[in-house]
Amino acid sequence: MTVSRRTLLAAAAKLAWLPLGGRLLSAAQRMLRAPSLHDVTVDGATVVWGTDQRGVARLTVSRRADLQQAVVATATTREYGSMETRLGTALFQHEVRMTGLQPGTEYFYRASVDGADVSAIWSFRTAPRTGPFRFLVFGDSGTGLNDQRNVAAQMRAERDLALAIHVGDVVYPTPTFQRYLDYHFGVYADLMAKIPFYPCLGNHDVLDDHGAAYLALHTLPPDEGVPQAMRGHYYSFDWGDVHFVALDTNEILHEANLAPMIEWADRDLTMTRKAWKIAFWHHAPYDSLRGEHREQTAVRERLAPLMDKHGVHLVLVGHHHCYQRTHPLIGGKRVEAGRGTVYVTSGGGGAGLYPIPPNDFNAAGVSDHHHCTVDVTRGQLRVRAVRHNGQEMDAAVIAPLPALAENGIVNGATFEAGVAAGGVMSVFGRNLAFETLGFSTLPLPTELAGVRVFAGERALPLLFVSPGQINALLPLDRTGDTRVRVVTPNGAAEMSVNVLETAPAIFRYNGHAAITRSDGSQVTPSNPVFPGETLTAYLTGLGRVHQPVQIGAAAPFSPAAEAMARVSVVLDGSPITPSFAGLSPGSAGLYQVNFRAPYELGSGTFGLRIRAGGGQSSPVPLPIS
Ligand SMILES: [Fe+2]
Ligand SMILES: [Fe+2]
Repeated sequence: MTVSRRTLLAAAAKLAWLPLGGRLLSAAQRMLRAPSLHDVTVDGATVVWGTDQRGVARLTVSRRADLQQAVVATATTREYGSMETRLGTALFQHEVRMTGLQPGTEYFYRASVDGADVSAIWSFRTAPRTGPFRFLVFGDSGTGLNDQRNVAAQMRAERDLALAIHVGDVVYPTPTFQRYLDYHFGVYADLMAKIPFYPCLGNHDVLDDHGAAYLALHTLPPDEGVPQAMRGHYYSFDWGDVHFVALDTNEILHEANLAPMIEWADRDLTMTRKAWKIAFWHHAPYDSLRGEHREQTAVRERLAPLMDKHGVHLVLVGHHHCYQRTHPLIGGKRVEAGRGTVYVTSGGGGAGLYPIPPNDFNAAGVSDHHHCTVDVTRGQLRVRAVRHNGQEMDAAVIAPLPALAENGIVNGATFEAGVAAGGVMSVFGRNLAFETLGFSTLPLPTELAGVRVFAGERALPLLFVSPGQINALLPLDRTGDTRVRVVTPNGAAEMSVNVLETAPAIFRYNGHAAITRSDGSQVTPSNPVFPGETLTAYLTGLGRVHQPVQIGAAAPFSPAAEAMARVSVVLDGSPITPSFAGLSPGSAGLYQVNFRAPYELGSGTFGLRIRAGGGQSSPVPLPIS
């Protein structure tokens, strides 16, 4: 496919640059940093490179390896003066944000300054919306020593990498521009040209100037909701089915900055609907290397409960210069495989090694230079630690078990308690599925994304599965105490629920009750009904019907399947007898009630409930004009 200039590129350079010199300077231009990828999303990516003199920087981008049919974007250039960089020269940092890209798609690019190519033709892939991928993990790296370069060589030998996580201490011993350029962007330049690196701040990264060089040189994902002073310190992003959260544990001892970060992370982890939650920061909460020093204790006390609360599957940390992998933990206690959070310390990227004294948390520990890879598959994370000589030194699988929320089985229309035979049931919990998938044909499938739900021994027709919620149809012929069991490839979770004869609940659609007027349009405050008009309410929970039907198949038209329970519509306290109440013809698991709006009420908004047998729905407003 082709890419248009308009969709591919963000705004070109807006900064004024002095035309003076322009091309003439090109011969003297020196590259300070080669192009690197940042903040790659499903539809965008940023490339950053740097020179020592002002110049017109451009990025040529194409879907083709030969850069034909390319789009050329002019970079936004930001100058860091030599006083600031202490490089003996200014740094002109050029940045192009590409937008309007396709997910999981390969793009080719080359950077230029003043018309001269300053990079090879590199390619990268945008983030996929879903599906498996592999990423790198390493940390405590930037010494410039052979230990760092040996690990880098093994990282370079990995295949099919999507991105890299750096768990902090990007450079040693102090965070100067020079060291970032030499010991980080220089060492990993060929990897950074192909995959984005996502770092977090280590204690060495904030030793001077509150991380000014780190923050200047990294273009991180937008950090909405982060206080201005803390921009770049914490952020989150999605890749495939994973939600990644980066935190700054240097702030762990400063309550004024810590509390907003914890609030932000709590909100961020609450919002995500991704199957996987992976957090990373610098200080390891669980190990005993330096005893109970203050950061470690504080990280454990303040961040571990947040991981427990949100069911974060994997936490990646550094600071201790070794490899450690904990057992799965909740509240600092070891739990069975498939529950809790696994903490992996990967602090062996190049700095001097620390020993690992025995502790109760660890399932594995090796003090050697290494990197890790994590393979994200449907239902599993596979962690691998690779020694600087290429030898695998640990491998582990994280396969989360499904877990149902307390009182997590509710009706699928309003998510209130009370489910009925033949009704739509929503099951809430964790690790219920590893992708989000709805049914596509009738009759409904009894397996979606590898997930099945049973009532007793009966496999239930499924409408929708996702990590946190499943919608399924209960059998028509079964009431009373029922074991509901969710089965995923990793295991099963079950809970008892009392299935009622009837439990009417009106669906909502676009924020309003699912009631349509005679022309099929939805009733809303701005589309009220006329007195005498025939209306249809869509709901669940009317229970059994007069004729045999196959649950999960399209309900019959002629004759339509009428509810056995006595159904009435109660409007402003007065009952109305419906003209029809039963399964909605042509659909699966949906009931409808047809009734006429009365003449005698006049205009206004009136409470409407539907009663069926011994149950009644919560009221919804019905506007009458
Ligand atoms: Fe370190
Ligand atoms: Fe550290």
